[in-house]
Amino acid sequence: PKTRYYHFELKIRKLSPDGFERPVWTVNGQYPGPLVQANKGDRLVIKVTNKFGDPASVHWHGIFQRETNWYDGVPGQTQCPIPNRVSFTYNFTLDQSGTYWYHSHFLAQYVDGLVGPLIVYDKDEPYYKSCDEEYVLTVSDWYHSPSAPLLPYPDSAVISGRGQYNCSSPAAGSDCNPNVRPATYNVKKGKKYRFRLINTAAYAPFAFSVDSHPLTIIEVDGIPTKKTNASTVKVLTIHPAQRYSVILTADQPISNYYIRANLLTECIAPRIPMYPFNTTINFNSSINPNATGILHYYDVNPDAIRPYHPDPAPTNITDTFIFNVTFADNDDDVGLFQINGHSFEPIFNNPTNQRIMLKESFADFEESQNAYGYDTPYGGVEIILLNRGGADHPFHLHGHAFHLVGVGSGVNMNNLTTRNLVNPVVRDTVQVPGGGHIIIRYIADNPGVWAFHCHIEWHVDMGMVAQLIERPTEFSNRTLPNDVRALCVQHDSYYKQKR
Ligand code: C2O
Ligand code: CU
Repeated sequence: PKTRYYHFELKIRKLSPDGFERPVWTVNGQYPGPLVQANKGDRLVIKVTNKFGDPASVHWHGIFQRETNWYDGVPGQTQCPIPNRVSFTYNFTLDQSGTYWYHSHFLAQYVDGLVGPLIVYDKDEPYYKSCDEEYVLTVSDWYHSPSAPLLPYPDSAVISGRGQYNCSSPAAGSDCNPNVRPATYNVKKGKKYRFRLINTAAYAPFAFSVDSHPLTIIEVDGIPTKKTNASTVKVLTIHPAQRYSVILTADQPISNYYIRANLLTECIAPRIPMYPFNTTINFNSSINPNATGILHYYDVNPDAIRPYHPDPAPTNITDTFIFNVTFADNDDDVGLFQINGHSFEPIFNNPTNQRIMLKESFADFEESQNAYGYDTPYGGVEIILLNRGGADHPFHLHGHAFHLVGVGSGVNMNNLTTRNLVNPVVRDTVQVPGGGHIIIRYIADNPGVWAFHCHIEWHVDMGMVAQLIERPTEFSNRTLPNDVRALCVQHDSYYKQKR
């Protein structure tokens, strides 16, 4: 194993990802940020220098952070935010492989650009080097004004950071550049390619496809999956924060083919340009600009994504959590999401994990902070999430990949879907249907404070977050690294200066 060093300089820079120029919260001036690559077993040491002018953080989405909960990157839960002009070094080992990503976890900052891919290779992964080449491809919704506190509508969408805004639309203004080239991937006829797809969106699911090329799914959220008849699809639905690896065989006549990432806009108003945002696979140089798409909602068939290595769900359940997700339209007219009646608000200067390590009792903040402790060593945990609102929510659990033992409609505890404990899908982000429920299980083998939240960024802002405090007694006996402690001191003095 190796130690791999990266330096992220966070700075705001004007970019025109879809032709429309706006300030973008970049890593090293890039959107999306640089590709981070490592092998399983490696250590990543990533120094983050914050020049945003605002606090920031970086979360490594899907990485378990075993023994290093304090590098999980969640202000208010696992660290203090990194103040402006301060550097903080994340330092963790990788005991997993697959397709991951990083993003800011400070307020809704990642919507403005701080996202990037993180790929971990493993020569023992069943599809390692089974293709001639591989590519990373991100899809995202995109916004023309820096993130507003209330839910805005996407202005467009980008594939690998490039889109084609309609510069002749009245909203485009005079600075719109109609000549942004779509992201282009060159493939050679007869060869096989692994595409690692990451949805870095703040809001939108996408229907992803490549014209004339079916895609065979081989990985979901870092977990290699078994190829079945269902695994080869024409269109793949990918929800915010989810990842898939797919194999594309370049067996078609030499030409250009569209890669399509259509926003699934069923629940957003038609202010969004409804045309798809395309990119091409290039076999030669000309690009056909006349593509249209059809929007149809569906989710991926679970039979397409069963784990490659048999991985039954834990059966010895020692802790069960029932989470009721509701929408409370409160007096000041701001809709707040609640989990079990409480809307999460981060306390930035006093992260939950540090309070636990200082052996402060968490009983007093348990409720308002949506914190749920469970001490049973190595027991199986079951979470039943009842989504009492009408909208779907992509829920993500930090610190684990979970067994998705059931997805069902209705929110009646007496009428839950049948659990599949034999060969459930294993992943870290799942779309929870509106008015429906999910049941997930995992083993509590990772002491720490782990967020469990909807990955729609404004819903996080509106409190749809729970904190799962896994084995607090054991966790509280660990020693907090000095740099993590120092960050909170720097954070405090930053705010004193600001006042
Ligand atoms: Cu992508 Cu809290 O995570
Ligand atoms: Cu949500």
